[in-house]
Order: sequence, then C-alpha cells, then structure tokens
Amino acid sequence: MRKDWLHFYQMDFVQERSNYPKIITQARGCYIIDQDGKSYFDSLSGAFCVNLGYDNMDLLDAGYEAAKKLHFASPFCVANNPAIELADNISNSLISVFNQESQVFFTNSGSEAIDTALKIALAISRKRGENRRFFISMDNSYHGTTFGATSISSYPGCRSQTGNLYPEVLFAPNSTSCVSNSYQALNEFLLHLPISPTEIAGWIIEPTENQAGNSPVPQEFMTIIDAFCKKYGILLIIDEVITGFGRLGYQWGIEEYAIEPDILVSAKGLTSGYESLGATAVKKELETYFRGNDDDFLMHGATFGGRPAACAIANKVFALQTELAIFSQVKTNSKLVENRLLQFDNRFPFISQISGKGLLWSIHFSNHMDSEQINQHITEKLCTAGVFPSLYQSRKAHALEFAPPLIATEAELNEVLDKYQSVLENLPASPLTVGPQNHRIYEAGI
Ligand SMILES: Cc1ncc(COP(=O)(O)O)c(C=O)c1O
Repeated sequence: MRKDWLHFYQMDFVQERSNYPKIITQARGCYIIDQDGKSYFDSLSGAFCVNLGYDNMDLLDAGYEAAKKLHFASPFCVANNPAIELADNISNSLISVFNQESQVFFTNSGSEAIDTALKIALAISRKRGENRRFFISMDNSYHGTTFGATSISSYPGCRSQTGNLYPEVLFAPNSTSCVSNSYQALNEFLLHLPISPTEIAGWIIEPTENQAGNSPVPQEFMTIIDAFCKKYGILLIIDEVITGFGRLGYQWGIEEYAIEPDILVSAKGLTSGYESLGATAVKKELETYFRGNDDDFLMHGATFGGRPAACAIANKVFALQTELAIFSQVKTNSKLVENRLLQFDNRFPFISQISGKGLLWSIHFSNHMDSEQINQHITEKLCTAGVFPSLYQSRKAHALEFAPPLIATEAELNEVLDKYQSVLENLPASPLTVGPQNHRIYEAGI
C-alpha cells in the first residue's frame, strides 16, 4: 500500500487509523467491503459518483457488451455508435437548459472536461476577434486537478504547492458570503473589477457549490451572474460534475434556474463511476465557430475520450434513471435527510448549520470549537459503526458531508442516520471544548 500513492493524504495518516477501511475489495449496492470482510455504508457515493450504487449488473453488462463488439474507436478520425447515442442523450437532456441542441466533447474525467470548456471559451473569443483571457470562478471552489481546472479552483490548498498556474483568473464572492448582505459583495466585486468585463472569456459556477459547503446558489445570485455574462458577452459555464445526474433531484441542477448558460460540464455520475468519462456540452449555436473551412476546427480531443464501453454505460445510466424513477426518489429522500439533519442541528450545539439540496448535504461545525478534532472523532466512530463518511472529511474540518448513493432506500437512510445520531450523542467533551481549529496544511496561502 505504501507504493500506492493516496495523493490527497499523508500516506501514514491512513495507515495509522485502525478502524478506517484501507483496501476495498468488493462493493454491493450502497456498501463497500474491505479486505477484512467488514461492510460500510458509503456516505459519499465513492466520490459523489456511484449514484446508482455498486455492482449494478445492467451497467456492467452494458460496458461489457459494447467492449466485446468494439473496445476502441479513435476519436481523431471515426465515430462510434454508443458515443453518438450518448451525445444525443446529453443534448436532448439539455434542451430545456440551452433552449437548443448542443455539441458534446467527450473526455476521460471531469478535470479534462473543465479544461475543454476553458479552451473552448478562449477559442471562441479569438474567433470573435476579441482578446478575452480572463475567467471568473467562485471563492472556495474546486474544479479538478488538471492545469486549467486547478487554476480556476480557489479551495484552500489547491495551488499552495504550484502557485497560480494560469494566472488570469478572478475569484468572486460565493453565494454563502452574499446571502446575508443581499448580494452586495457580489455586486461590489463586479463594480470594482480590476479588468474590463470585455477581457473575460468565461464565468464558471456550480448550481450547489460543493466546496463552499454544499450551498445551493439562490436564483437571484445566479441571475446577477447570468445578466452580467449576457451584458458583456461572457460565456457562462456550469460545472455539473457533482450536481448532475440526479444528485439534486434533477437531471441537471441548473434546470431549476431561469437562466441560459452556454457550456455545461459533466463527469462522475455520468457513468455512475463504472467507467472514466467526462463530457463538455456546448450550445449548438457556438458550434459555428468551429465549422467551416480548415482554419475553423478545434484542435482538441482525447485518445480515450468517448470509448464505446464508457459511452454505453452512460447511455444505460440515462435509461436506469428513468426506470428506477431516480429523480423523484431523490426528491422524496431529500426531505427525509433534511429533516433528520435539521434535528441534529437543533439538538447539538457544536453544529452551526445544515446546508444542501437533493442528496448533497453538509453538517457544519461551530467555528469556535475544534472542528477538525470533532470531525476526526466522528469519522472514526462512524467507521467503527460500519459507515464510511470518506476520509477527506477530516481535511474539510469545518463540515461533514453526506451524499449517499441515489438508490439508497428510506430504510437504509434512516439506519445510517441513526448511526450518525448515536455517534453525535456520544461525542466526548474534549473536542468540544478545545479552541479554534488549526488547519494543518490547507491554510497555506494561495
Ligand atoms: C465540482 C467538480 N468539478 C470537477 C471535478 C473534477 O473531476 P475529476 O476528478 O473527474 O477530474 C471535481 C472532482 O471532484 C469536482 O468536484
């Protein structure tokens, strides 16, 4: 295990904790099973991706059958049927968002799909004869690991080792910091931009901001951004890597908003974690910038992007979502989870707030307590009780996330939330009395 670099952690951190699952050997439904045969409810759906649960034979078969026929088709010169079908599925699902069809670029991951969106925005600016180099992203955001995605991620620590990478990025106050002051912080940010708005190629935002504490963005906040983008010809890019595919109770989280974005990025739930696949959907009208004579093509594509097996699985995800009525199940179960978490909020003084939507929630800890210790303690006790809240909870010390597989039944959710309740009820006094937390490495300045 020491040679398998768990790069989000200090490796010893994982080894030291005897009750954490270390090597996962199997998984079924909402449960992962470790090398000792112990089973844990997966409270974070892998990494917000195993939406339809583990060991789904329909998804595995869809991939296997597609790969048996054709395991690879070079995206540089030929198409393949599962990819064509998936592009149609994505485009159709986005008609209500874009008010038109879309063109879809396939990648291997969310990060690459984000970079694809950024490159497209820059390319469109040039084709329009403009010189837009800047992007606006949100405070406390995370969009991935590649050079571009890291550059537009402001979550503490993202760029502490590397510096700013692509430097022309501004970070806007996020909705959590704005709700209390009627969006004044956002309006002031826009009023005092250090550059001209005509230098901005794109603005990227998630409908529920994950790293900002799973905070659903209010319509009014989104309207301000949308209106600003429309006024100055800035492309509005929606990151639905986490929020898409039913996580918020809709195909896309942005469906609920009365705005019209230009580009949407998807990954994770796209294949429910059964294959590596990302997708960047671009409004059809923007395609005109890349079609025409030989100078108009977009020199962009990934060898393994859009492989038949990955696309066939994603097509099956679309089918299963309907068959299993996933969106209505999430809406119903969302109320259950919200009610249970609100009860925790009322009962436990060390909880300062509950935030979230659909099946994407955060329990926030009071910042005058040692939330890192609280979080670590809770994580350890949950693991002992057979619940895996994901280790990086202790990194995001201020909050504990809850984002179970979307197929989790009411009974499963109640059972696991009973375990949360029991752990919260039995917290020892010590972490609750220690002073302000000390983020070990993640507070390094960006
Ligand atoms: C909101 C968001 N965007 C993009 C990404 C990057 O996706 P990937 O890890 O597949 O590269 C992530 C990953 O966690 C994410 O949470």
